[in-house]
Parts: sequence; C-alpha cells; structure tokens
Amino acid sequence: MSLAQTQSIALLGLDGHVVTVEVDIADGLPMYSLLGLPDAALSESRDRVRAAIVNCMEIWPNRKVTVSLSPAWLPKSGSSFDLAICIALLSANEVISPDAIRDVVFLGELALDGRIRSIRGVLPALIAAQKAGIKTAVVPSANYREAQLMQGIEIIAMEHVKQVLRWLRTGEREVADEIELEWQPDDQLLDFADVAGQPQARLAAEIAATGGHHILLIGPPGAGKTMIAERIPTILPALSIAQALEVTAVHSIAGSFASRSPTSLVAPIVSPHHTTTRVAMVGGGAHVIKPGACSLAHNGVLFIDEAPECPSGVLDSLRQPLEAGSITIARSIGNLTFPAQFLLVLAANPCPCGKFTGRGRNCTCSSQQVRRYLGRLSGPLMDRIDMRVHVDPVGRVDMARTDLGETSAEIRRRVIAARGVAAKRFSEYSWTLNSQIPSRALRTIFQPQRDAMNFLHDELDKEHITARGLHKIIRVSWTLADIHGHEVPTLSDVEMAHVLRGGSEL
Ligand SMILES: Nc1ncnc2c1ncn2[C@@H]1O[C@H](COP(=O)(O)OP(=O)(O)O)[C@@H](O)[C@H]1O
Ligand SMILES: [Mg+2]
Ligand SMILES: [Zn+2]
Repeated sequence: MSLAQTQSIALLGLDGHVVTVEVDIADGLPMYSLLGLPDAALSESRDRVRAAIVNCMEIWPNRKVTVSLSPAWLPKSGSSFDLAICIALLSANEVISPDAIRDVVFLGELALDGRIRSIRGVLPALIAAQKAGIKTAVVPSANYREAQLMQGIEIIAMEHVKQVLRWLRTGEREVADEIELEWQPDDQLLDFADVAGQPQARLAAEIAATGGHHILLIGPPGAGKTMIAERIPTILPALSIAQALEVTAVHSIAGSFASRSPTSLVAPIVSPHHTTTRVAMVGGGAHVIKPGACSLAHNGVLFIDEAPECPSGVLDSLRQPLEAGSITIARSIGNLTFPAQFLLVLAANPCPCGKFTGRGRNCTCSSQQVRRYLGRLSGPLMDRIDMRVHVDPVGRVDMARTDLGETSAEIRRRVIAARGVAAKRFSEYSWTLNSQIPSRALRTIFQPQRDAMNFLHDELDKEHITARGLHKIIRVSWTLADIHGHEVPTLSDVEMAHVLRGGSEL
C-alpha cells in the first residue's frame, strides 16, 4: 500500500470544514510536495513531521511523497494538520493499517521529538467533525478539557505520536481520566456588595444588564467606574449551554483560556486597553485570523476604560458589530464572520486631568478642553449609547458604612425576573431584549402611556432630544417598566429613562 488517507479540520472563522489528507508514496527521486492551498506555517509541516517520525524511530520514506489536502479550494493555515499528515504518511508507508485511520479526525501540531502540541480552535473543529458524522477524534492532551465539551464524538487525547501509533497498532491506550466536566455558573470573585454608595450607577448597571442597553460611565479617577463595570457579568443571567459553547468556541480560536475557563457559564467580560488596535478590537491579522475583543465579549460585556483616549477609528470599528451582532473580516481568500453580540460599557474621565466635577475644584483644564474631551466620543458611537451616568467619588458617609451594598445575587434575581417579563412580551417576535425592539415596532406597538408620549413629544418640540434619542428613551423605559412591574411604561418610567440618557450635555 502506498496510498493512505485520513482527515483533519480547517477553520474559516468559526466554521470548520473537514479536510481529507491523502498521502501517496511513489518510486522516484526523494521528494515531498504538499498540494491544496497551504500557507507558510502549513508548508513547514514537512520538517516537523519528518523530525517527529525519525525521532519516534519510524522510517521516513526516501521516495517521492505527495501530500494532498482537499477540497483544494479551501484555504488551509497553521500547524494543526501536522498530526494527520504524519499518520497518513506512516500509513502510506505501511506502518499502520489504512483502515484504522480512515474515519478518524486527527488534530494537533507536532514538536520535533514527536510530542503533540496544543492547537487553537479545537472546539469549533470538533463541532464541524460531529456535523460531518465523524465518530472519533484524536486531539492533543492539552486540549482535552475543551474537547470534552463536545458530546457525541469519541475524544482520544494523546500526548505523543508514539502513543498514537501504539493505539492504532494494538488498540491499547491509556484512557485519560474523564475530567469532571461541570459547567461553572459562578466565579464568585467579584460582587456588587463591594461597591459602596453609587445608587445611580448601580441602577444603571442593573438596567443595562436587564435590557441590554449600552452605557457610558463618566467620573473622576477612583470613583469606582472600573469596579462597577467589572461586576456587570455577575448580575447577568448565567449563559445557556448553547451560548457558553459559542463563547468557548471563540475563545478557543483566540487561544485565550488563560483568562477564562472553557466550562464557565459566567458572561465574559473583555476590557481592551485604550491603546488597542483596530485589529485587536474587531479581529483580523495577516497570517492567522483571530477574533477581536468584540467577539471575545460575545454574549457578555465589552468594557472600554478611558474611552476618549481611544483613537477614533478604533471605536468607530465597533459600529458594524453593534448593528449586526457579528463582525465580518474581509480577506483575499474570502470573508470570515465571527459572532459579536455584546453589552458595551464605556468609562470616561470628565476631562483630560480627570478632576472636573462641575464645581470647578482642582481641575486644571480650560473649559474648552473639558468640552472637547467627551466630545471625542461623539458621533456614530455615542448614538448607540443608551445611558450616560455620572459617577461622583463616594463620599465619606458611604465609605464609612460598614454594611455592604446589595449583593450581585439579589440584583441578578431581579434581572432574570424582568428579562422573563420582556421575553414573554416578545414571544411572537424575533428579539428578546428591550434594547432590540426595532424602531418601527416602537412607533406602532410598543408605545408608553399617553401622558408619557406627550412628555416625549414636548421634549422633541423643544429640541431637547432627537428622534433617535426618543427611541432610545422608550427602549430604556420598557426595561424600567419591567423592573417596576408596570405593564406599559408610565410617565415616571419615561422621565427616568430621559434622565439616564441625558447624564451629561454631550
Ligand atoms: N464606590 C466605591 N466603593 C468601594 N470602593 C471604591 C468605590 N469607588 C472606588 N473604590 C476603591 O477605589 C479603587 C479604584 O476604583 P476604580 O473602580 O478603579 O475607579 P475608577 O475606575 O473610577 O478610576 C477601587 O479598587 C476601590 O478599592
Ligand atoms: Mg478605572
Ligand atoms: Zn480637568
């Protein structure tokens, strides 16, 4: 037998495609060719595979070796095909039976000594394998935990090519301990109870979590903006398993499990620094395409601290995901799409020096500087912000109190209850959160009470709000109605939403 075939997976964004790996060994001058649109990292697989084979005391065929990855049109990148190529090559060289590997998917990069290295994107790869009806997958041991999330496919974790060969020849293997696979609903590290005072910001956080409304926190350094933002995931409902799998799949491709467990049900929070690049924010990359912060925050919170310091192009790049709930990255070989549905939380100092309080003390900035500073945020992005909340430094009275604030668990209970009311109201529509009510439905079906509408139309006449602002206020007022147990937003719900939207005179 000088021809063998097995399988691996190529990822385009989150979409995996089964790739058939065929190896032919023919008589002729020693040669190695790799067919099927490989990138540079994949082309180097020859050297890794060869070293691994030789160092496992197997024989490298000194003949004409042709490796073909198909479908040929599918762009393939990275080093995760190493193991599949190595195994197919040994099979073509009659070291292992071709039947043993035909219906198996192999994933893994090879070290020169034959160890199998972890790869990115194991979970989305296995999802694709399962969809294609594959029953058995060999994965690097280091990816075992993540791989086990995939039900309905036998996962074989391997550390070394020698172990794989022993298993293929004799059927023997050390079965890795079943990892206790439990979804973790809580991490319990952060809690809203830690935040003293700040009733308005706490309420805004609760409204944001309930209705999915984007929020800007404005206040001097040390007021607790970061503290509050970091605690928003603790009051969001736990992710469903399906949502958690989506989150884990994105993080798997980014290789970012250092900061997040693959079995976490807590909504993710991602906080890119204001020096971050556009690519880091929305995804991309020259060689290997990685999802950006906005996709890592999918089903969770994207928190941008000191937002006015961000280059405007970076913030503006969030427009597409904010509108579409996903981000499409254009490449010469075709577009990739990653999910990106997140709650946007921006924090900003009120002025360049940070000390402006409206009372003028301590701040060294000119009034023009103060005006310009938050103005850097204006434009299309600010149009998407539903609430602008001032966070003043906590006073000594609040800080001196020894009783703790309300806990995240209590707030979360209310969030879940209010979301339930909204979901029921929207049961025959395609959306579930108040922030997602389309403008048209706001005008026809989902109007607040008569006097509340009159109030809004008066504000519109006085040019205190714009038509877009009016819609945002109504969406937030629905969330307030759900929290307060009103069937339809009342005048007080709408007035409160109006105040929360105003926050500052941006
Ligand atoms: N409301 C508050 N309750 C309790 N501690 C606070 C509060 N505000 C600030 N702190 C303390 O000050 C630190 C800095 O707060 P931080 O959230 O980073 O402020 P900001 O982001 O507004 O600059 C916190 O880690 C906390 O110890
Ligand atoms: Mg901060
Ligand atoms: Zn200042």
